[in-house]
This record gives sequence, structure tokens and C-alpha cells, in this order.
Amino acid sequence: MSQDTSLDMGWSEQATKQQASESRRGRLLRDGNFAMFVHWGLYSCLANRWQDKTYYGIGEWIMHPAMAGISVEQYQSLVTLFNPTLFDARQLVRLAQDAGMKYIVITSKHHEGFAMFHSQASDFNVVDATPLKRDLIKEIADACQEAGMGLGLYYSHFQDWTALGGGGGPTVDATGKPADFDHYFRTKCLPQVDEITRNYGPLEVVWFDTPCEIDRSYVEELVKVVRANQPDAMISGRIGHDLGDYLTAGDMEVPMRNIEGTWEALDTTNDAWGFAHYDTNWKSPLEILKRLITTVARGGTYLLNVGPKSDGTIPAAVEENLRGVGRWIRRYPQVIYETEASPWRHAMPWGDIIAQGSTIYLCVFDWPGDGMLYLPGLRSRIVSAEVFYGDERMATTWGQKNGWKCLNVPDRRPEKLVSVISLTLDGIPDVDPTHGVDPTIDTSLPADFAAVRGCKQSYKQWMEKFGEWRHRSQISQWEPEGTASWAVTVIEPGSYRVDLTYAGTGRLVWRVQVEDGQSIENQQGASHIYGRFPIGQIHFDSPGRRCVYVSLVDGDPQMASLAEIHFSPVLL
Ligand code: GLC
Repeated sequence: MSQDTSLDMGWSEQATKQQASESRRGRLLRDGNFAMFVHWGLYSCLANRWQDKTYYGIGEWIMHPAMAGISVEQYQSLVTLFNPTLFDARQLVRLAQDAGMKYIVITSKHHEGFAMFHSQASDFNVVDATPLKRDLIKEIADACQEAGMGLGLYYSHFQDWTALGGGGGPTVDATGKPADFDHYFRTKCLPQVDEITRNYGPLEVVWFDTPCEIDRSYVEELVKVVRANQPDAMISGRIGHDLGDYLTAGDMEVPMRNIEGTWEALDTTNDAWGFAHYDTNWKSPLEILKRLITTVARGGTYLLNVGPKSDGTIPAAVEENLRGVGRWIRRYPQVIYETEASPWRHAMPWGDIIAQGSTIYLCVFDWPGDGMLYLPGLRSRIVSAEVFYGDERMATTWGQKNGWKCLNVPDRRPEKLVSVISLTLDGIPDVDPTHGVDPTIDTSLPADFAAVRGCKQSYKQWMEKFGEWRHRSQISQWEPEGTASWAVTVIEPGSYRVDLTYAGTGRLVWRVQVEDGQSIENQQGASHIYGRFPIGQIHFDSPGRRCVYVSLVDGDPQMASLAEIHFSPVLL
């Protein structure tokens, strides 16, 4: 064999290996669609309380001046309190399995710098500094391996508030000698990323966070280390400089429109990431399922956080709610795993739609009370329709009216949580994605779907309390002739009440006009909190497609922020 040939073979072998790696990479994110996020660290001991005061918000930030402003020395001394002797990694993994989750992403080091693994690069870690002296990441990695659960490790690569030179950290050492980010990167960040990617078996994801102003060259180095140690691991989008493998959505954000490619929505079981002593605002199984299904229907995977307590246990309500979610998923796995996004690319008034080849699953959050479920815009022929009762299915019939499909459904909802109807079609779904105005229940259309002229559509994010993020599309900066318009199809002629959801200052006068010339207007109060206000009644006198226009007639045009239009049928 000549040297050339063997070299060639070397290349092709390498290429095959790389291809295999690429097809394995991200499999659980693409097909698993549901995962557990775990925020656990030194901050969990404080549980949002410092010196007898409660700081509301995301507790892993408690050290930061935006919350309690704890000094580096005081924070580091908390290590003596960290002793989660009740922690059992197998129980955590079992919970994730019971919930129907396919991988777990846990904080190996958060912004405050404490490592939940045994690190040679910094002794501010769980083994060297705490009474527990156990490598928690190792325990979780072993339990994941044993159970066939995917593992991802979160690592805060820019922010490190206790390490010399880290983002937001001390800038001079004990002798007053200055140190920069490069110092932190070389002495802690890079070695620790090497450790977490080398010592804990195969990783599904390396979950970097808050790149802030990190230089591209550092990110490139981190990518290189991850690729070398974990060729099959995905790198989160928050590594920065567009060098991640997939998109991570905003904190606590479930997008309105389908997103192409691999992406992940990040959410919490309450309002915080780390355990907070006061926060019992737990999402119910129904709420979790709605957000999970909506994420999967938009084409994403849903990463849902739990914050263990400092003793290592999970709050009982979280366990109960997640197990409720898991019981539902075990009845309807086909709706969650290895699925495709909704061909309509947005939610329906009654729920959402998930596809799998030529089958579509209608996931009904609000079961209709009058025996009929309305489906706008489906052009494909329905071959069969079945209402699910867990493992049992009941065939049902359907009709067609004004271009919509109308399914006959039982009066009583089949499920307490989300009910499922499957439609087998004559091929890959062919749909007109125009929003339909439902003839029996409220239809709410967010600003995301409006066309605008003489006003500005933008994406707004704000914190409800510190770190509790909210997201909305809005239409603001109204010029005198500005309009926002929504295209809708109507199946049932009749009267509909129109409400608008908006924020603003003082009083606002809004006008709603229909393409056929009808016009209604009303004055209502406004505040900085979004509220839903009635405008009046319109009449659609024929079925079919039309545009509905909204304009601001009077009031502060800069502050008026329109978020949604709602249509409610006037039932006679
Ligand atoms: C944010 C926060 C952080 C949390 C993360 C979860 O970036 O800084 O505390 O870990 O979001 O997505």
C-alpha cells in the first residue's frame, strides 16, 4: 500500500467518523424534545435570604450587587454550609425519567464561581471546600449513564464573580496586583472546561451562558476543547459569536412562531432557577404540558428547570407536578418524541398541532363545549380521525364548511389535562396558515402576526422581578396614519366582540376597521401593565378571508404598545 493511499484512507475514515459524530450530535435535542435543567450550587443554601432579608428573583444571582451585594470573602465562606447529605443522584435521574425527560443539564459552575465538581484548577469546589466532599457532577454523570439519560453540563464561561479576572470578579489579587480576563481564562475557565468535558463521560450538551463581552478568540478556544474531548456534544448558542451548534431562546420564553433548525426553550417550574424559599408559584402539570407542547409545535425542545434545596432534595410539589406530566406523556409519547413542528407555524385558539409525517396530532387545551372542533386551512384530505383516551382510540367523523374542517368530538373532554385527536391525512400536510376566527371560543392574535404601516413592530423583554423574564411582541411608535393589520379567515358569519391587549399612558382611543368598511372605536385607560380592554362589536356578514386594521386615534403615540387583538363570538 503506498503512503498516498493510506493517507487517503486516513482522511476518509476521519470524514466518516466526523459524519457519524455529526448525526449523533444533537439527537436528543432534536428528537427527545423534553429535558431537565438543574440550577444547584452554593446559592441554594441561602435560598434567596441574606442577613434576614429576602431578595426576590433568581437566587443564583444573590451575591451580585443587583441583589444582596455579598462580598467575595463572605460568599466564599458559605462553603461550610453546603452539605446536601440527602442528595441521591439516582433519585434525581429517576424523577427526570418519570417526567418523560431525555437529558439533564446541570450547573457545573455558575456565575458565582463555585464548582459542583472536583477541580484541580480551583479549590472553590464541592470536594475541596465543603463538608460534603463528594463530586456531585460525577454522581449525576454516573447515575445518568446507568439509566441511559443524556447529560449536559452548564458552565458560566465569562462571568465569574469570585475568580481573579473573571467577568464581574475581582480585578486585583491580595497584594493589589491587577489581573485581566486572560488570566481568569487561562487559570480557571479553560482548565475547568477541559475537566468537565474530559472527566464525566459522554455529554449531550455543553451549556455555556452569558457570553457578555467575551472576545471571539476565547470562544474559539473553548469550542476546540469541547470538540476534542466531546465530539458528539452540542454547544449551546450562548457560548457567543454565533459559534454554538443550536439556538437557545430567551429565559422563560416560548416563541409564537415556528423556528427552523435545532433550538431549545428554557423554562422554570416556578419563577426562579435556583431554589428560593418563598417561591411556590409552581406551574401545574397542565401549564407545563401546554408550554412543552407549544415549544415542540414550534419545532423546539423544552428544557425545564428544577432547583434542588441545599439538603439535596427536590421540593415535593415539583416532584408531584413533574410525575403528573410524565404520566400524560406515557399515554401520548407520539405527541412529544421524534415529532415535527406544526405546519400552521403558530398556535390554534383551542391548543396546538404537532405533526409526524402524514399524521397530525391536535392537542386540545380548551375542549369545545358543543361537540365540534374547528380546524382552519387544512387543504389535505383527511383519511381518518381518532379521539384518544389514553391507549384507547375512538374513530370520529368530520365535515367541511367554508374551507374549514369541522370534527365531531365528544361533549366531554377525554383528558383532564390535554386531550389529543389524531388525523391521518392523504399525504404530508398541506395547509393555508392564515389565522382562523374560531366560531365558538376566543381567538387571540399576538402582534407577531400583524403587518404594520406607520408604526413599529418590535420584540420587548422585561423582568417581572429580578431575572424573571417576560417576552412580548409589540406595536408602538404610532404615526398619525399608522395601522397594524391581521389577516383572518372566518367560517361563521355573525357578530364578534373585539378586545385589544395593550399598555401605555393616560387614556387611549383605538379604532378597529374591517376591510369591508366597518369601523368601531373606543376610549379606555392604559397603564404600564398590559391589560385587555373592550373596543366593541363587529359583524362578519360572510365567511372567508379579510384583513382587520387597528389604528391609534388619540393618546400618547410613543408609549401606546399594542400586543394582541381578540375576537369572541357573540353566541345567540
Ligand atoms: C441567565 C441567568 C442565569 C440562568 C440562565 C438560565 O442567563 O444569568 O442565572 O442560569 O439564564 O437560562
